[in-house]
Amino acid sequence: MKEIQYKIIKQGDKMNRFWKEYPQIEQELENVTNIMKANIKSRETEFTKAISPLIDAGGKMLRPAFLVLSAKFGEYEHEKMQNLAATIEMMHTATLVHDDIVDESKLRRGLETIQSKYGKEYAVYIGDFLFCQCFIMLSEYNYSPENLKNISKAISKICMGEIVQYNLRYSKSTSVRKYLKIISGKTAALFAISFYTGANEAGCDDKISKLLGKIGYHIGMAFQIMDDILDFRGNDKKLGKGAQRDLISGYYTLPLLYAMGEDKENKIADILDNSSLSEGDVKDLIELVKEYKGIEKARELADKYTKKAFDNIDKLPECESKKIIKDVTEKLLNRNF
Ligand code: IPE
Ligand code: IPE
Ligand code: MG
Ligand code: MG
Repeated sequence: MKEIQYKIIKQGDKMNRFWKEYPQIEQELENVTNIMKANIKSRETEFTKAISPLIDAGGKMLRPAFLVLSAKFGEYEHEKMQNLAATIEMMHTATLVHDDIVDESKLRRGLETIQSKYGKEYAVYIGDFLFCQCFIMLSEYNYSPENLKNISKAISKICMGEIVQYNLRYSKSTSVRKYLKIISGKTAALFAISFYTGANEAGCDDKISKLLGKIGYHIGMAFQIMDDILDFRGNDKKLGKGAQRDLISGYYTLPLLYAMGEDKENKIADILDNSSLSEGDVKDLIELVKEYKGIEKARELADKYTKKAFDNIDKLPECESKKIIKDVTEKLLNRNF
C-alpha cells in the first residue's frame, strides 16, 4: 500500500500554535489526550494500533479547550471536566473518521486516513467504536440528563448537516441559506455544545451558559467558513489534510456560491457541468472563484460571525478565560492550517 509521504506539522506543534501561550490550558489538554488514549485501549491490539496514531497526531483541540475555558466561568472540577472534554474531542474524532470514508480522503492530521490505510470496513468500525466509548465515558461522572440529551442532539445535528450536504452534492442551485444551514449542523452545533455544557456542568447560571453557547455557535460558523476558504487557498502540507477536495467531492461551499452569484457569463457553471473535473478544471475554478471575489466575500462573512462572537464575549464577566477565548477566536480567523 502506498504510504503517504508528507511529514506534516505534528500534533504537538499544531496544538502548540494555539495553546502554548496558555500553559494551564495546555496542561489540561494533555490530560484530555491521555484520557482519550486510555479509552481506546482494547484487547484487539491491532485495532488499537490503527486508532492510536490519529489520537496521538491530534489536532487543534479547539472543542475540548473551549469546553474547559467555559467551565472555568463556574466551579471547575478538573477530572469531571477533562473527561467531558475528552468525550467531546473523541466524538469529533469519530465524525472525522467517518467523514473521511464518505469523502474518500487520503490524508488527515498529516497521516494517511484510516480508510485509506486499512479500508473502509475498518474505518466504519473504528468510528463506531469511538462513538460507543463516548457513551461509556459519559457514564463515568454524574453529568446532568439535560446535558447528555443536548450532546446526543448535537451528534444528530452533525449527521443531519452531513446528510443535507451529501444530498446537495453537485447541485448548482445550492443557496447561501442552505449552505449556512449545513454548516450550522455539521460544525457550529458541536462548538456550541462544547461551550454550553462546559459552563452548565460547572454550575454557571442559565444566562452565562446560554451566552457561552451562542459564542460557540458563532465561532463554529466562522470556523467552518474559514475551513472552506482554506480548502480553496491552502495546501495538503499546511492543512495536514487534502486541499481542493470540496470541489471534486461536489461540495459547493461559500466561496464558490458567492463567486457564482457574480459570474454573469456562467463560466463557473459551465465548468461544473463537465461530467468529471480535471485538474485543469479545478485550477480554472479556483482562479474564477478568486476573480469573482468569492474568497473575499466568504471571509467577510467569517468576519461578521466573529464580530458577533466578540460582541457576546464582551458581555462575559472579566476573567482569564474570557481573554483567552477572545485571543483564540481572533487567531482562528487568521489561521492558515
Ligand atoms: C475539522 O475540524 C472538521 C471541521 C469542522 C472543519 P478541525 O479543523 O477542528 O480538526 P482537527 O481536530 O484540528 O484535526
Ligand atoms: C466537517 O466538514 C466535517 C465534519 C463535521 C466531520 P469538512 O468535510 O469540511 O471537514 P474536513 O475539511 O474534511 O476536515
Ligand atoms: Mg471532509
Ligand atoms: Mg473542509
